[in-house]
Amino acid sequence: MTAQLEVAQSRQRCAQCGRELTERDASPSCPACGGLLELVHEATISAQELRSRFAARSPLSRGMESSGVWRYRELVLPSAMPDEIVSHPEGNTPLLERQAISKWTGVSALLLKHEGHNPTGSFKDRGMTVGVTQARRIGATAVACASTGNTSASLAAYAAHAGLRALVFVPAGQVALGKLTQTLAYGATTLLVRGDFDQCLALARQAAAELGVYLVNSINPFRIEGQKTIALELLQQLEWNAPDWIVLPAGNLGNTAAVGKAVEEAHAVGLIARKPRIAAVQATGAAPFARAFATGFRERASVRAETVATAIRIGAPASWDRAVHVIRSTNGVVTHVSDDDILEAKAVVDAAGVGCEPASAASVAGVRRLVREGIIGRDDSVVAVLTGHVLKDPGTLVRYHQETEPRPTHANRPLEIEPSMGEVQRVLG
Ligand code: F0G
Repeated sequence: MTAQLEVAQSRQRCAQCGRELTERDASPSCPACGGLLELVHEATISAQELRSRFAARSPLSRGMESSGVWRYRELVLPSAMPDEIVSHPEGNTPLLERQAISKWTGVSALLLKHEGHNPTGSFKDRGMTVGVTQARRIGATAVACASTGNTSASLAAYAAHAGLRALVFVPAGQVALGKLTQTLAYGATTLLVRGDFDQCLALARQAAAELGVYLVNSINPFRIEGQKTIALELLQQLEWNAPDWIVLPAGNLGNTAAVGKAVEEAHAVGLIARKPRIAAVQATGAAPFARAFATGFRERASVRAETVATAIRIGAPASWDRAVHVIRSTNGVVTHVSDDDILEAKAVVDAAGVGCEPASAASVAGVRRLVREGIIGRDDSVVAVLTGHVLKDPGTLVRYHQETEPRPTHANRPLEIEPSMGEVQRVLG
């Protein structure tokens, strides 16, 4: 254990009624009103000191400090001790600049924060290292989640590492092959529920309450603390000069909530001088939050979700109130993009040699839409988050390239040939 580690306990607070709980309370939501909980840390360290501590920790550091989540431990979970932490390690993802993608969106200075570089291939690992660490700290023996696939893959990997039993609820027939494969490979008990994600989440909440299993969906405030580090890491990569915009795909809204909380806290402690605006992008067939934004969030809508981007095929987002707060406090926007636009954006990202899964491409398609509408300026600095790896959803990729008619501009079909040089010359024209 390093001598300078603080042991200050954080508190959990209900965002709705303000009730406070101790850091180790295992309630999945506020026992008084059912509202979502959030973590509150004591802010005792100056921005300058934080910056120099973060800079001193790197992927080459030893132990937890090599993690792109625990590097920011003062703002994540200061009291977690090194021997409690379950880390693969995660984070340390690149910030990429690719001209072809910038050009397609219309933004000259577009950067892509590629979260597909995490251990299980999605941003979920950032929240999961903290969620499973907390599960271990409170003595849980089993952990559970509902998922569209990435959370379950991540939970399975972290639970296996921690030696905890994992129980996952996923919508039958709606989980991309790569994600289901990972979840099974890492040994989670996998329930294919004949229903949608929203029904899976309701069932997972009930099962957690009745079976005494620790729930690590993004309603869990510890998951949110880990996911905040997408923003903290990209801000550090930009030397704490905030971009004009951070653009995210949005489904259950946990990530919008987390990135927004990070931005607010980084601004409050003085790590950044101004807050980036947050743009949340939904798929048109799963856009209750975008619809509500268009009416000033007067109503909380839910829809029957349908989209090719199965990761964000969610009709009743759980982190709704948290995300409304974030959009308001960052002067943010919410938009939606069609499946065709998502697949075209994905093909552009893939063809640049970067690659991502369909839901991730929603952020890039969203940038283009917001530029065309004059909301994002062509000279604004923009970071779009690519949330998952290209291999997560091979089925959609193969269908798009091989079966879509009329043939999309970016389609890259394999050419099957007889084993002769004549055939090679024939197909190469
Ligand atoms: N992108 C990907 C690749 C995702 O897997 C998810 C969510 C999102 C974006 C949206 O994030 O839900 O916090 O708004 N996947 C969850 C899951 C629901 O179960 O893996 P969100």
